[in-house]
Amino acid sequence: MDKSKSRREFIELSLKAGVALSAVSPALLSCSAPGESKEAATGETSNKLNILILGGTSFLGPHQIASAISRGHAISTFTRGKTMATIHNELFDQVEQLIGDRENDLTALENRKWDVVMDNSGRNVEWTKRSAALLKENCDLYLYTSSTGVYYPYLEDNYKESDEVLLSLPEGVDEDIKFIYDYGIMKANSELAALAEFGSDRTIVVRPTYMIGPADKTNRFIHWPIRLSKGGEIMIPGKETDMVQYMDVRDVAEWMIRLAEDKRSGIFNAVGPKEEQNIHSFVEEASKAFDVKSSFVKIDSHEFLVENRIEYIVPWIMPTGNNQGSARVSNEKAINNGLQFRPLSETVKDTYDWWNSDAISQEQRDEVEQNPNSLLAREQSIIEKWKAL
Ligand SMILES: NC(=O)c1ccc[n+]([C@@H]2O[C@H](COP(=O)([O-])OP(=O)(O)OC[C@H]3O[C@@H](n4cnc5c(N)ncnc54)[C@H](OP(=O)(O)O)[C@@H]3O)[C@@H](O)[C@H]2O)c1
Repeated sequence: MDKSKSRREFIELSLKAGVALSAVSPALLSCSAPGESKEAATGETSNKLNILILGGTSFLGPHQIASAISRGHAISTFTRGKTMATIHNELFDQVEQLIGDRENDLTALENRKWDVVMDNSGRNVEWTKRSAALLKENCDLYLYTSSTGVYYPYLEDNYKESDEVLLSLPEGVDEDIKFIYDYGIMKANSELAALAEFGSDRTIVVRPTYMIGPADKTNRFIHWPIRLSKGGEIMIPGKETDMVQYMDVRDVAEWMIRLAEDKRSGIFNAVGPKEEQNIHSFVEEASKAFDVKSSFVKIDSHEFLVENRIEYIVPWIMPTGNNQGSARVSNEKAINNGLQFRPLSETVKDTYDWWNSDAISQEQRDEVEQNPNSLLAREQSIIEKWKAL
């Protein structure tokens, strides 16, 4: 088997989507008080803001726009005009769409004022440094979208926002996994770049774990909605002690808007579910999205899974090597500052509906659903092999 290739593909996918992983196996308004109902946080607010999103048209951005508009805020986006949203397109005629390039053309942002800047597209420290320096006199607040990738390598447990993170590459890192370190180091230094320009009382840093939900174009989570919708005998990879973490992208987006309304500066992990969850209960909970009959085959031997080229199916990442603690990030501070979580079955069902909507072409669906190397295609023979042991 070409393990290094499958790992590399996974890592590249993960990095594109924003969470750093090990290469040895495979990314404020009226903040409702904890316990306050979600409805209370989604109506119009009297504290209307002008919000600039650096980005806004891929995954997180359209959900931020939907949440902000529902709260009565005004939105501008800044992009190259290349990426088209696959959700909430109907809202974009209410959005001021500024065109430029973070690499070399910020003209559209000059001499303009906003209350809040949300930096989603920051994947280069210089980009964040330049936009924060340009906007700091004319904007009150800078929200940088970072990642739990700053904690890589994940060798600890219960990662907190105050934990030290790597700011430069340690000596002796294997060339193969260097770029995974680079992602976390880039995010950590970008956080500092935003803080240096806006100061700690005007900077919000949000570090999401894997974001899942409608408009996720990475295809790394879609296995579950597709597979669970069919029912029957379903494979669950991993041991009872294999934890998972993920966040519905809409819960992150809504929370970011509320953090900005409240001017709640600080660094926050954005990590769910609320309570610890292992891969077994994740699948059982997610399966409630569909009214079909299912049974589960738990394959809890890491050795067998590796032999059969199953080292990750997001949100499950085999917790070995540098990934031991990848699903062990604390959400205590986030919950105390208003992070809320919708039911997993809602996330799975809505992702399934988006996947089967006009937003995705039949060709894109076929690439995943008809791929002979996918787990969807290989699952039944792996189950048979496992049962025969
Ligand atoms: N997905 C995850 O699981 C995950 C987890 C943790 C952290 N994150 C982080 O979350 C953030 C949000 O990503 P997203 O893609 O969902 O955000 P988004 O705001 O929905 O989309 C990204 C935007 O960046 C724009 N862009 C790309 N290159 C640009 C450039 N050179 N100049 C100007 N604009 C540019 C794209 O538009 P154009 O192409 O038209 O320019 C697009 O609108 C990222 O920083 C990522 O690292 C993601």
